[in-house]
Amino acid sequence: MATPHGRSCFQYLFHLAQDNLDFRLPEIKSLLALTGKPFQPSGNFKEKAPFWCLDGLCEEDVRGIMARSVCAKSAFELWGHGQTHSELRTSLLKYPSENMSPFMHKESTYRINVYTFNKTLEFTDRIKRIDALEYLPFEGTVSLKSPQHIFCLLEDYGTEPNNIPEHPLYIYFGRWIADGQRELIRSHSVKNRHFIGNTSMDAGLSFLMANHAKVKENDLVFDPFVGTGSLLVACSHFGSYVCGIDIDYNTIHGRGRSSRTNQKWRGPDENIRANLRQYGTEKMYLDVMVSDASKSVWRDAALFDAIITDPPYGIRESTRRTGSHKDITKPADGIYGESHVPVSQAYNLSDIFTDLLNFSAHHLVMGGRLVYWLPVYSPEYKEEMVPLHPCLQLISNCEQTLSSHTSRRLITMEKIKEPEEFDRLADPSFSPYQGHNAFREKYFNSLNKRCGKEENKSDINGE
Ligand SMILES: C[S@@+](CC[C@H](N)C(=O)[O-])C[C@H]1O[C@@H](n2cnc3c(N)ncnc32)[C@H](O)[C@@H]1O
Repeated sequence: MATPHGRSCFQYLFHLAQDNLDFRLPEIKSLLALTGKPFQPSGNFKEKAPFWCLDGLCEEDVRGIMARSVCAKSAFELWGHGQTHSELRTSLLKYPSENMSPFMHKESTYRINVYTFNKTLEFTDRIKRIDALEYLPFEGTVSLKSPQHIFCLLEDYGTEPNNIPEHPLYIYFGRWIADGQRELIRSHSVKNRHFIGNTSMDAGLSFLMANHAKVKENDLVFDPFVGTGSLLVACSHFGSYVCGIDIDYNTIHGRGRSSRTNQKWRGPDENIRANLRQYGTEKMYLDVMVSDASKSVWRDAALFDAIITDPPYGIRESTRRTGSHKDITKPADGIYGESHVPVSQAYNLSDIFTDLLNFSAHHLVMGGRLVYWLPVYSPEYKEEMVPLHPCLQLISNCEQTLSSHTSRRLITMEKIKEPEEFDRLADPSFSPYQGHNAFREKYFNSLNKRCGKEENKSDINGE
């Protein structure tokens, strides 16, 4: 495919951050899917490596990915590569001169950077590396401050910090195209956020979730366990309209005890809307409301382009839903019926995920994505434990380790078919654990016990 400058498909080099390794491939694949392009790695692709070479893309595609990715640091049009500097030279001299010349002519200004992965080079060694590229036909003028074109020599010294080889394992040279959105991790850090809670989702992971969900401009995104709205902040940054619900009155209304160490009570205007205002995306805020995710209040329709959420798993907050084990005796004439605030009861993990998958199957548009965190007790985890649903296809399942025995997995599913009958939602016999693997339910029941969930009841209105 030709770009506006008439330049067609090239090979591109992506430099990826070496954290959240599991999350990188699904992120890049999701962003490629947004541009309608397949993931085509070239050569010796290693998922955990810091550099990936991708085929079948044009510069516009690469810019689109870099405008969204929090996993990719930078992207380059790859001009040459090799295991040694001599191989790099041979490869660069084979690169078509018509592809190079638009960026090397007399009137152009340029700069060459040297980047080393897993090794620090002395300044003089960097200069030597640049001087050694004298075989390239640069005709323009060097400008360190504001060059028109930036080139980069990248040396990969492997991923073992205790075993750094003397010579690089692989070397690349390319024209810089764009940087990724790593800066969002700092600019949106929860440390500086207006409204936070004990379980506010980390900024980097929130943006990652939004990317896995393929959210885009003018989408409608819903978070059924919205808390302080960190996921809404990320989705609104990418131009989606956002809304959510939470069972906790204080969280939704920004009242009660503050999560900041130096502050006892939440101040005025500490709420989700103010969070979006802080980042200039208030116009994407629809609303949030106090509601119980186990009892849907939405009309039966495919309303949402994405459902993205961090359900409670009882480690830092309790998993509760409205209801009681006691029979509530209502006055015969029902006078007090409307003002009754029900007590809460434990919301078992298996029920949370059953409800979430059922809800998503009914309320996502076709092709819409559900992205959520699944808690895992690592010694017992098996892939078959991930809840499934006939209308939702599992897209990715990435692990984030929390401790030696616990982790959580970011699950991404895509709606592939409509539920055959809408009233299935009301059918208590349907469970994502049934048929496939009944032991999943057992697993979540044992996880419930580990999280220390008792069947005790408490009021949920306020503190
Ligand atoms: C892990 S927190 C979500 C944190 C959120 N992502 C944030 O960034 O602040 C889970 C939230 O689920 C809410 N919750 C618990 N049970 C619920 C229920 N039955 N329905 C709706 N929300 C519920 C809790 O009040 C809590 O705010």
